[in-house]
Amino acid sequence: VNGKIEIPVVVNVLYRTTAENISNTQIQSQIDVLNKDFNALNSDYNNVPALFAGVKANIGISFVLDQVIRKSTTKTSWGTNDAMKKTAQGGIAPTSPTTKLNMWSCTIGGGILGYAQFPGGASSTDGVVIDPKYFGLSGSANAPFNLGRTATHEVGHWMNLRHIWGDATCGSDLVSDTPTHNTANYGVPAYPHYSTCSGTPVEMTMNYMDYVDDAAMYMFSTGQKNRIAAIFTSGGARASFAQ
Ligand code: ARG
Ligand code: ZN
Ligand code: CA
Repeated sequence: VNGKIEIPVVVNVLYRTTAENISNTQIQSQIDVLNKDFNALNSDYNNVPALFAGVKANIGISFVLDQVIRKSTTKTSWGTNDAMKKTAQGGIAPTSPTTKLNMWSCTIGGGILGYAQFPGGASSTDGVVIDPKYFGLSGSANAPFNLGRTATHEVGHWMNLRHIWGDATCGSDLVSDTPTHNTANYGVPAYPHYSTCSGTPVEMTMNYMDYVDDAAMYMFSTGQKNRIAAIFTSGGARASFAQ
């Protein structure tokens, strides 16, 4: 481990329509967003309220586009059962998944923007899936999810982060510096939004691991950074990416 983690990204594009065959420009715009959001270089980072200024964090991991693989399909939607990752089901198998982050761009359906595999799963299905309507900044990206933050959120999961509300009413995300949220937040919440969970904290609705609009999410926390760092250290589930 040389101290700086740079993750090669393979983008697997499955397309039926021209809009689904997203351009290299749109793909690079997504890589650029990941590099900003994971290095506290996003222009809205300074919108983090003073209440959370002490815990906002620069994750310090960068991404580089390794290759784009394209395949045409007759499927109109792929669902969330990993079919897009399997050649036998018309998909594209991941490339070097123990050393490269594989992203699939394909229409998912069912109102799903994207989904991710947590660390520790099978390498044959490892990576993140993003619908082309929410991929990157230009081309087919659709407001209010057109700032590339679906991938920021999904890569957060891929790096072991949980939803900030812990997928339960007043649940835990296993991170101590993020407040307890009642549930997922949507849209652009007014600040401050108080939780009714124990201690009635102000919710960190601007965290990437909530469900708000792309324009309303712009920070990770120090606790989330530590949780991410742990999986890239020796013995961690993603140590093979930190060589
Ligand atoms: N897995 C979530 C979904 O499909 C992603 C939410 C991403 N949120 C965002 N603002 N881009 O609904
Ligand atoms: Zn999620
Ligand atoms: Ca927490």
